[in-house]
Amino acid sequence: MEKRTISFEVNDRHMYMTVPVNRTLLEMLRDDIGLTGTKEGCDEGECGACTVIMDGKAIHSCCTLAVEADGRTIITIEGLQHDDMLDPIQQAFVDAGAVQCGYCTPGMILSAKALLDVNSTPSEEDIRTAIEGNICRCTGYERIVQAISLASDYLNGK
Ligand code: FES
Ligand code: FES
Repeated sequence: MEKRTISFEVNDRHMYMTVPVNRTLLEMLRDDIGLTGTKEGCDEGECGACTVIMDGKAIHSCCTLAVEADGRTIITIEGLQHDDMLDPIQQAFVDAGAVQCGYCTPGMILSAKALLDVNSTPSEEDIRTAIEGNICRCTGYERIVQAISLASDYLNGK
């Protein structure tokens, strides 16, 4: 398989990788870089477990080729925690009781972050639209919506 060398930033770290052109971004993040916080679920763009942020947009990394990351900036769930302090969105998920098995949680939080980075006071409809690509089998979504609303309060100093 043909390979290409790409350069990109992940969680504030600049990296070069040589990857087969058919390798997915999810495979590169988890298997080559060791960022296993990004989860693999359906592997076909349906569940959102593999969500990461690329250039400010929440994307499904299972449906994105690693070579598409060339020149881009990526944030994974590992990029949110600083100095052992949870990010306000992570803290809100804990405080709202929005985590059960946790498999959907990294993707949910990154979809929430992509929303809150451009809209710090989202409506409930904005929140539900932002997470429509993320499936949760445990919570029934209510607490996740509450958590994102709480995260908005935390980010706005409330
Ligand atoms: S693993 Fe990517 S959308 Fe399900
Ligand atoms: S907490 Fe289990 S899938 Fe969402």
